[in-house]
Amino acid sequence: MTMLELLEKKRHRQALSQEEIAFFVQGCTDGSLPDYQISALLMAICFAGMNQEETAALTMAMAHSGDLVDLSRFGACSVDKHSTGGVGDKTTLILAPIVAALGGKVAKMSGRGLGHTGGTIDKLESIPGFRTALSAQEFLDQVQRIGVAVVGQTGNLAPADKRLYALRDVTATVDSMPLIASSVMSKKIAAGSASIVLDVKVGSGAFMKTQADGEALARQMVALGQACGRNMAALVTNMDAPLGCNIGNALEVQEASQVLRGQGCPQLRQLCVQLAAQMLCLCQGWPMAQSLENVESALSSGLAFEKFCQWVDAQGGDAKALTDFSRFPAPKVSADILAGQSGYLYAMDAQRIGEASVLLGAGRLRKEDPVDPAAGIVLHQTAGGFVEKGQRLLTLYASRPAALDAARAMLSGAWQFAQTPPQPAPLIYNRIG
Ligand code: URA
Repeated sequence: MTMLELLEKKRHRQALSQEEIAFFVQGCTDGSLPDYQISALLMAICFAGMNQEETAALTMAMAHSGDLVDLSRFGACSVDKHSTGGVGDKTTLILAPIVAALGGKVAKMSGRGLGHTGGTIDKLESIPGFRTALSAQEFLDQVQRIGVAVVGQTGNLAPADKRLYALRDVTATVDSMPLIASSVMSKKIAAGSASIVLDVKVGSGAFMKTQADGEALARQMVALGQACGRNMAALVTNMDAPLGCNIGNALEVQEASQVLRGQGCPQLRQLCVQLAAQMLCLCQGWPMAQSLENVESALSSGLAFEKFCQWVDAQGGDAKALTDFSRFPAPKVSADILAGQSGYLYAMDAQRIGEASVLLGAGRLRKEDPVDPAAGIVLHQTAGGFVEKGQRLLTLYASRPAALDAARAMLSGAWQFAQTPPQPAPLIYNRIG
């Protein structure tokens, strides 16, 4: 079997066999396949797709490409959550401590930024001192002790996905349903949680642009997880506008801290409450109404914020930074963008805003690029609100003035104004599973 044969086959829209997929995943894992052949197959999959059997085979081969974490010591309490990627999506930082404060065991492996979307690991690493690489023993001990640990795809967990993920990020091969489903579910299956909640994003800032595609992706991932004996639920949620007000690594940690302290954007809080409640329904067996009540009380009592500080401290991070933002790396340059006219702000193009944040340094253009923890965007107005001409719409933060110029150019035309308020869009479209 050769990689050329696989490439030819997929280019002609034929299905790959289980053996061919196993050969491909093995070559990604042991380094025998070069980046260019892997990238070529990824691009062919983007065009030709994969059927259910191919997607399941790719998922299982990637899940088994490294170690499988054994969380059986936590019984039914182990619970994980994964988003398919959005702009300003810092929900993990908020719901992981909520769920841990309520007895769930959140043993989570997260990713870095992908395309125009951010990644939890890049966000956590913006906290001074935070370690995202823990040994397997440290990881499990921490979950046992405080109920939450989040690590990067370090060590030997789904290493095939790690390689594909980094290549997809820089070869425009992210927004393919089988590649997303297999990437997410291989990691979730390898990471071992008994229950998994998926946040499938839909809209201009998501990889799935329509509700129908988002629901199809959600159904496919729920089925993959259920076939492996996991309790699954998926929420299909709106990503037409960025989630919350801050986009960029340190900025998003700061906003998460605000939400956990009773401030911050109401929509972001609402989504986190719903996702956390879904996680608790699955891992604690509570009815939805009780889960929601407990989540609200963990937030209002300050228990969830206390758990956030404990979690950051346990992974070596500076927990004081969560209330004193001057302890985060500071941006060197900034620029405001003002409203060019008065009106209701609508059609905020989340993808363009995400791409602008990458240009500012919050994400990567090449896989070896470092991210700038301080770079990003603060939105001063939310979609649907009325703004006066000359009012501040957003502030850009970066290390270099040239990055501000590039982001400003990317943002030109990224929103529009109307004289009547737009219809409010739903935050959650559907629940599957
Ligand atoms: N998250 C992942 O882990 N993989 C994807 O492909 C998209 C989002």
